[in-house]
Amino acid sequence: MADDKAQIGVYGLGTMGSALALNMAEKGFRVAVTNREVDWIGGFLKEAEGLSKNLVAYEALDAFVAGLKTPRVILFMIPSGKPMDMMIEAIAPLLEDGDTIIDGGNANFHDTRRRSAALAEKGLHFVGMGVSGGEKGARHGPSMMVGGTDHSWRQLRDVLRAIAATYEGQPCVDHLGPDGAGHFVKTVHNGIEYADMQVIAEIYALLHYGAVWPPAEIGKLFEEWNKGALKSYLVEITGELLQYHDPQTGHPVVDVIKDAAGQKGTGRWTVVEAVRLGQAANMIEAAVGARSWSAEKDARQSAQGILGGGRGAVDVDAGALAQAFLAARILCYAQGFRILAAASEEYEWGLDFARIAEVWRAGCIIRSALLDDISEAFREDLPHGQLILSSRFASVLADTIPALRMVVSTAVAEGHAIPAFSAALQWYDSMRQGFGTANIIQAQRDFFGYHGFERLGEEGKHHGPWWDE
Ligand code: 6PG
Repeated sequence: MADDKAQIGVYGLGTMGSALALNMAEKGFRVAVTNREVDWIGGFLKEAEGLSKNLVAYEALDAFVAGLKTPRVILFMIPSGKPMDMMIEAIAPLLEDGDTIIDGGNANFHDTRRRSAALAEKGLHFVGMGVSGGEKGARHGPSMMVGGTDHSWRQLRDVLRAIAATYEGQPCVDHLGPDGAGHFVKTVHNGIEYADMQVIAEIYALLHYGAVWPPAEIGKLFEEWNKGALKSYLVEITGELLQYHDPQTGHPVVDVIKDAAGQKGTGRWTVVEAVRLGQAANMIEAAVGARSWSAEKDARQSAQGILGGGRGAVDVDAGALAQAFLAARILCYAQGFRILAAASEEYEWGLDFARIAEVWRAGCIIRSALLDDISEAFREDLPHGQLILSSRFASVLADTIPALRMVVSTAVAEGHAIPAFSAALQWYDSMRQGFGTANIIQAQRDFFGYHGFERLGEEGKHHGPWWDE
């Protein structure tokens, strides 16, 4: 019977796929599920328990497709890259005009654009959907960034609005633009995530190695911060994790974790795309770089022996550190939104920055108290699309930058590595100079390569007197 058919199919029952399928079933949608390794299906159904009446599992791909209402909606939660291309190749011949395939992984938006165009030729729709919030988010309310056609959005929106995180009753999901827009926004979300995490790590290092605070005390400070302007998911979890002890040794658990960070690529993509779009996301670059250097543990250990690893005592006041953090966080979001603006222009996506800030207010990893103000700022007149120029942020920056300057100079003087904090201040100081240093660069370019320069207040290309000799 047609009515028994599922409203949506979920392919891929790993952590995120299972959690999303259970979330949909819990909200009353009939969900068809399957997985490449069919022996995972039994375990999933066991986990589903009370929700199984809304779940129908298939082992064969054609039966899974046949079990879906048309036009079909199929969410793939599988590793991005080649596996996605292989699955598209396998499933496309089974689909019909108007069906939608969704890639809910952290895919590169260039791949998403390519896949959308290729499937459009076959009458099929492809959605690149950024999903944030980890397993808990996926199960109980993720933030979702959708890129695709209006047709797909109409097919999807009821399910997505029902499963999304909510902020004051508003679901944290929206159709942000066509083809790669959703995956691009998710990539930049992750870039901001990297920089915010790095700033937090630098605060920890200053307090722990510079001011000899035990991890649990730093955790309590984060707990306090989470009650005010710095309230955010990353501050909350850092406050919590710093107070854990390792059951094996009894030491603070952070003391037994190897200081070599992993990265799957989204932070790096943000930097690559920013540079390609003529933007400089130096805080995000600093965070990606810090992870890369961290992974060179052997080299760092040798360098400590050869170059000396000393770090001096720093007498940082926690209040000043909080102010510096707030300034850096504003600058970090500002860089992220600037990249989004540049991409929106290049790809003609028409991104609504206020909506993006709203979609990030709950469910995602970078959710924070600041995002409400950010969406307000974008709804007001924002000169040059620069968050730092909005009156509400310019005044907060005026209040907090002295603390950032103090923290950076103290840390630098005592040999502490604070790449993200320093990048924030360098960007701020560069941006507030109406007349910067590029006159020298232009003169050099002209001197060695006859590249020409613009004169102040005069149109056209000019050359220096060095060419007259
Ligand atoms: C999220 C996260 C999530 C994941 C990233 C981070 O929004 O839920 O960003 O997508 O944590 O994969 O990746 P790294 O392994 O690169 O830190």
